[in-house]
Amino acid sequence: MAEHDYDLIVIGAGPGGYVAAIRAAQLGLKTACVESRETLGGTCLNVGCIPSKALLHASEMYHEAQSGSLAKFGIDFKGVSLNLDQMHAEKVKAVSELTGGIEFLFKKNKVDWLKGRAAFTSANSIDVAGKNYTAKNIMVATGSSVTPLPGVEIDQKVIVDSTGALALPKVPKHMVVIGGGVIGLELGSVWLRLGAQVTVVEYLDQILPGMDGEVRKEAAKIFKKQGFNLRMGTKVTGATVKGGMATLTVEPSAGGASETIEADCVLVAIGRRPNTDGLGLEKAGLAVNARGQIEIGHDFQTNVPGIYAIGDVCPGPMLAHKAEDEGIAAAEFVAGLTGIVNHDVIPGVVYTYPEIASVGLTEEEAKEHASASGSEIKVGKFPMMANSRAKTNRTTDGFVKVIADAKTDRVLGVHIIASIAGSMIAEAAVAMEFGATSEDIAYTCHAHPTHAEALKEAAMAVTGKPIHM
Ligand code: FAD
Ligand code: NAI
Repeated sequence: MAEHDYDLIVIGAGPGGYVAAIRAAQLGLKTACVESRETLGGTCLNVGCIPSKALLHASEMYHEAQSGSLAKFGIDFKGVSLNLDQMHAEKVKAVSELTGGIEFLFKKNKVDWLKGRAAFTSANSIDVAGKNYTAKNIMVATGSSVTPLPGVEIDQKVIVDSTGALALPKVPKHMVVIGGGVIGLELGSVWLRLGAQVTVVEYLDQILPGMDGEVRKEAAKIFKKQGFNLRMGTKVTGATVKGGMATLTVEPSAGGASETIEADCVLVAIGRRPNTDGLGLEKAGLAVNARGQIEIGHDFQTNVPGIYAIGDVCPGPMLAHKAEDEGIAAAEFVAGLTGIVNHDVIPGVVYTYPEIASVGLTEEEAKEHASASGSEIKVGKFPMMANSRAKTNRTTDGFVKVIADAKTDRVLGVHIIASIAGSMIAEAAVAMEFGATSEDIAYTCHAHPTHAEALKEAAMAVTGKPIHM
């Protein structure tokens, strides 16, 4: 009889956990994955990436048809109306097709789905729904959930988190978004396009913390033009709800006179925190750091040998593709191979219109690194306004920025605001992964007419001059 029930038990079936479980099974390990949700796929598939992108796409099409912006192309719409129930139904269909797909993949790869909440009972055993399971290795992939804001209680009716904001039964008149980060701007965009007035209250003096400074400024300019009311340097100190309306008390972050804002919908989007409550970490000898994250080594092992952790529950950007890549690499380590994730080259995309995408160092970070090591940087920029395809499509907002080391010309970071920045950034990530110089990108033939030519021209601008500017 085998010493353990499984070679590997993964806790959590989000993009980190389900991918790790499938990879481990492909490598011949007897694998189970525990998930307490009714469907697989975690935050990303159920209440994150997928439903948000479904609504972003649908609301963009509605806005294009309804606003008359297609008239210049000779496309006239009359009597455009919103069927919000149908928009939600199509989103739910996309989600259930994808979550069902993971269930199919589990069956195909012979991954057992243990249904229920897992809690450690020792370093190599867990309890799920009253049953104990043992495993040679256990991987924590429990993800993250919304950070609450004291004094602003989420009721999922008037005051919602991202999950509530993905399923509002009607378009709010005035939505206040607390937090000008990725969720606030993506979901704020959805409801703005569907007709809401949207105010974003951001604690810092700029939106999109962590992104390149120039990108943050340009993005704010574009969002204001679209109709977002951006209240930077402002904090919410409390909220009361009465008769379907919220009254928020806000004041300058630096202190000062307070005022109130009325809204029929408030979205709290001030960040996410790792899920470790009720996991019984202490029974396994696991600890969390000051931010509640599980620390890991290069092989994704925690302080307890045989226990691994990946994804949002660990330090690093809270992104689905980061979780997935960590899942693959960690499963490979469990199987005795060497898994690799280059944490310096993880792209990030904000799926607003235009999209905002980045990979590598921001200009501020690159300057800081350079001054610490006695080197310098060079920056090449190219506006989408001068890109022929963007001009043809009338999608000229934004720019491409390439940052390279002044001496070696190696690309250190790429930042893009463009209608399809999320697709364009993949090329920059591949280039950086291969250690490309800006010259490598500049001398690579890019198809014409494409938005990608703007990356080539920004790379040309690093050492010399682009052609079309
Ligand atoms: P999760 O996806 O959070 O999955 C963890 C799973 O573990 C959950 O299903 C949970 O139920 C389960 N679980 C937790 N504890 C237990 C337990 N004790 N027992 C059993 N099961 C347990 N990222 C992107 O890259 N692109 C995007 O476009 C994007 N959009 C997003 C939009 C929104 C609105 C949100 C909220 C997030 C978005 N993200 C996006 C972030 C992305 O969803 C996360 O980074 C990603 O899901 C993390 O994957 P994970 O596997 O670490 O955890
Ligand atoms: P975030 O960290 O992106 O933004 C939170 C914002 O709230 C910050 O700008 C912060 O300064 C502000 N803030 C914090 N406390 C505040 C307060 N009291 N009052 C006002 N503002 C306050 O977090 P967000 O948007 O909640 O997203 C969580 C995570 O989900 C992100 O880390 C992101 O990686 C992931 N995500 C990724 C997406 C993507 O890849 N497209 C889409 C959505 C989410």
